[in-house]
Amino acid sequence: MIAVRMYDIIKHKRDGGALTKEEIEYFVSGVTDGSVPDYQAAALLMAVFLRGMDARETAELTLAMARSGETADLSGIQGVKVDKHSTGGVGDKTTLVAGPVAAACGVKVAKMSGRGLGHTGGTVDKLESIPGFRTALPPREFVDTVNRVGLSVIGQSGNLAPADKKLYALRDVTATVENASLISASIMSKKIASGADRILLDVKVGSGSFMRTAGQAEHLARMMVDIGARAGRRTAALLTNMDVPLGFAVGNTLEVAEAVETLRGHGPEDLTRVSLALASEMLYLAGKGSGESCQSQAREALASGAALEKFALMVETQGGDASAVRGLSPFPQAPYSRSVVSPRDGFITAMDAERCGTASVLLGAGRAKKEDPVDHEAGIRLLKKNGDAVSAGEPVALLYASREELFAAAEEVYLSSLSIGPEPPPETELILGRIEA
Ligand code: URA
Repeated sequence: MIAVRMYDIIKHKRDGGALTKEEIEYFVSGVTDGSVPDYQAAALLMAVFLRGMDARETAELTLAMARSGETADLSGIQGVKVDKHSTGGVGDKTTLVAGPVAAACGVKVAKMSGRGLGHTGGTVDKLESIPGFRTALPPREFVDTVNRVGLSVIGQSGNLAPADKKLYALRDVTATVENASLISASIMSKKIASGADRILLDVKVGSGSFMRTAGQAEHLARMMVDIGARAGRRTAALLTNMDVPLGFAVGNTLEVAEAVETLRGHGPEDLTRVSLALASEMLYLAGKGSGESCQSQAREALASGAALEKFALMVETQGGDASAVRGLSPFPQAPYSRSVVSPRDGFITAMDAERCGTASVLLGAGRAKKEDPVDHEAGIRLLKKNGDAVSAGEPVALLYASREELFAAAEEVYLSSLSIGPEPPPETELILGRIEA
């Protein structure tokens, strides 16, 4: 038998072939044990990005990645365990709101999250902006936290889907993120390995997401829902709007602060609505009643402060300082800020959310290279959004950074994200669809 070589696998995909199961497994195990170097893994990722994968290759890649490490044993958690995952957006802090809301309604939320990817933020980076918060919990402590608090959010710690951990970091810096097969395999390998019974996917659509059109997002959602069903997990997807950043905060600490405001009932309307829709779906998947009943349970958990209390408890249980969450001290702020002003009069008719996210990365909130640290306090506070009237010279956003020299490039990119016209744009829908197998 001829030995499989990474060179031939790359060439096979580069020339448009469909990879065999053996080739996919060779690649995944080589990435996991380090015998495939980053440059060959990155070359194959780019070949997949350009040539695509069919449904069989995608499912085999997902399962090989899910099996690349251990599978979490959540049998010690009583009740139905629900996980939620977003395909990635800008200002997307919905996990920090929907998770506590669902937990306050009695659902066990056992969630493994990711770090920032490309121009999008990651829940792990956001939570790590809370001093002391531990996103790497040993499996036993994760199970205990979910049992005691009802909610735990951890990073891709331990040995769960280690192939995804490596590929995710490589994709982040090699422009190979926006591919439905790679996104499906990345998300679903983690979700299968992390063991929850029910999986809710938030598939983002629009300029700030990896899927620009509803058609592309629907294709991705169907792919993931089918993989979930084949793995024996009840999986549903909501398609939600990501044409404009969600809420007004982009950047790690800024987003945690906005999520806390939302849990206090004073959050931005778009963030509140999308978070409640996701929480209601989590309740529905967990069998907590009809769609309508789940929506009213979710609203009540937010209004009563029970969800805020769940979040504070999770922060404390995972070692974090919850004083800012409990309103006893302010959230930390970056040493420098600068306003961006509107170049002319008119209405904001569009915001390219990817460029808003890139501006935030340039300020330090995301990574340029995989080993880069993130600056937790860096980011953007939007002062004006789609549909708002603006006058020339009026501030439209505040940029935050730890070094003043970062402002010029970020300001240029941020301004290039705005379209300003004579009329306000038409209203857009926030929730665009629901898909279940
Ligand atoms: N989230 C993930 O975990 N992986 C992706 O590829 C995109 C979003």
